[in-house]
Amino acid sequence: MAKLLCIDSSSRSTTSVTRQLTEAYVARFKEANAGAQIVRHDLIAEKVPYVSEAGIATLYTEADKRTAEMEALYKEASVYADELVAADVIVLGAPMYNFSVPAVLKAYIDLIVFPGKTFAYDGGAPVALLSGQNKKVIVFTASGGNYDQLPYKAADFLEPYLRTVLGFIGIDDVTFVKVQGHDAALVQEQTEQALAKIERLVGQPLAV
Ligand SMILES: Cc1cc2nc3c(=O)[nH]c(=O)nc-3n(C[C@H](O)[C@H](O)[C@H](O)COP(=O)(O)O)c2cc1C
Repeated sequence: MAKLLCIDSSSRSTTSVTRQLTEAYVARFKEANAGAQIVRHDLIAEKVPYVSEAGIATLYTEADKRTAEMEALYKEASVYADELVAADVIVLGAPMYNFSVPAVLKAYIDLIVFPGKTFAYDGGAPVALLSGQNKKVIVFTASGGNYDQLPYKAADFLEPYLRTVLGFIGIDDVTFVKVQGHDAALVQEQTEQALAKIERLVGQPLAV
């Protein structure tokens, strides 16, 4: 059974370009994969917690040495990472906010880069625990400016950041679908192209 995880992070609800695209992807995925398991999170509605001092202490305390309080915290902190580990396809709605991802998406990433679940250190060298699992990530991103070419390309910290952090945990199959620009007609045209791309992306067989 195909497992899809979909994460939204736009602060806009009804007028969000990225939410429109993630919504379309989920709908198409459901049609193409009968019985698919779909988990969705709206990081704005959920108020993702920030990394806390107690949380860090918990993560770096061996399982048999954790207090009951730490054990509860560990369970709570594990939810997002466990879902990611279980997913075959991960869809991220990631608007560009100040040249990178929204703060809520960064807070989510701080929870999925999880020692022992998605990465580890082996004698000081990082090990990407999700590599070789054929996971795919599709990032739907929207920005007011166009970052395809220099000099603006150098100001795009969103795509390189997401590729780096996902690669760190072992996910290298990452596709970006972008809607770029302020002009309403251009946004409309690019959104339509993105919707057509969804058809092709969902059409790709899942290597599960
Ligand atoms: C807080 C904030 C910061 C933004 N920063 C940038 C930016 O750095 N570069 C850019 O091109 N557009 C920026 N924008 C424009 C958004 O990327 C654009 O409106 C996009 O459509 C937002 O995605 P959404 O439609 O899914 O909400 C920003 C918008 C907001 C609200």
